[in-house]
Amino acid sequence: MRSRDKTGYATADTGVLAASARAGKARKAACFDALGIEPGRRVLDLGCGPGHDLVEIARRVGPTGLAVGLDAFGEFARAARQRCHACGADANVAAGEATRLPFRTAAFDCCNIERVLQHVIDPAAVLAEVARVVSRGGLVGITEPDRRLTLADGPDQDTWQRIIAATVAGTGRHPNIGAAVPTLLARAGFEILDIQLHARGIYRDLRSADEAYLISGLAQEAERLGAIPAGRAASWLEECEAAAARGEFLVLSGLLTTIASRVTDAV
Ligand SMILES: C[S@@+](CC[C@H](N)C(=O)[O-])C[C@H]1O[C@@H](n2cnc3c(N)ncnc32)[C@H](O)[C@@H]1O
Repeated sequence: MRSRDKTGYATADTGVLAASARAGKARKAACFDALGIEPGRRVLDLGCGPGHDLVEIARRVGPTGLAVGLDAFGEFARAARQRCHACGADANVAAGEATRLPFRTAAFDCCNIERVLQHVIDPAAVLAEVARVVSRGGLVGITEPDRRLTLADGPDQDTWQRIIAATVAGTGRHPNIGAAVPTLLARAGFEILDIQLHARGIYRDLRSADEAYLISGLAQEAERLGAIPAGRAASWLEECEAAAARGEFLVLSGLLTTIASRVTDAV
C-alpha cells in the first residue's frame, strides 16, 4: 500500500497527472485563453500538483507577470518548483492549504483550479479565500470532475457499472462536484460567464485508460469490497484487453469547466 499525503495524493500519482496533462492540452489552453492569461497577468494556480499547468501559465504571463502555484502536498509543491526550473519557467510555488492562502487580498488577476475542489473538506471555504485573493473583476476557471459522467464501453457492462459504483466514493471527497461548482461560485460572489463540458481523456486501449483512470486498481478495489466476485477483476481486465484488441473498448470521464468573474467585494 502506498503512503498517502493528507490530500489523498502520493508521489506515484504523478504519472496519472502527467497523462491527464497530455490528454487535456487543448482544453487547458482554451481555459487559459478564457481567463485572459497573457503577458503581465498575475495568476494563481491553486492545487498546482507537480506543476504541469504552472509551467504553461508562467510562459504565458512572461517576465512582466506573476505565476504562483500552491499545493498542500509538499512533494508536489517541490516537484512543481523543479519542473518550472527545469523548463526555464519563472514561477513561485508555495506549499500551503487552500483555505488559508498566504497571499494578500486582491493579489491576483485570475485563478486556475483544476481537479482540486473534489478533494477539499470544505469547497465553499476555499472559494471564499479565492474571492479574497482575486481582484474585483478578476476571473476564475474551475475544472472539476463529475463521476456521473464516467462512460465506458467494453465487455460485461454489469461489471463495469459495479466497479464504477463501488469505487466512486474513493475518488475524492466530492466525486460529483463538477455540476455544483457554478452554484458554489455564485454563492461566493462570482458571476458565471461560461460552463463547458469536456472529456478528461477518451481511451480505446487498456494501457492508456489504465494510466489515466487507474482501471485495474479500481477493479481490484471493487473485488476487495465484494462488489464483484473473487477473481473477477483479473478475468475482466483480460476481457477488456481482448476487447480493446478488437477495437471494442472505450472509456472516458467527464469534466466541467466553469469560468466566472468576481463581481462583489471580498468578504
Ligand atoms: C488531481 S490533482 C490536480 C493537480 C493539478 N491541478 C493538475 O491539474 O494537474 C489535485 C491536487 O490538489 C491538491 N490539494 C488537495 N487538497 C488540497 C488543499 N486542501 N489545499 C491545497 N491543495 C490541495 C493535491 O495535493 C493535488 O496536487
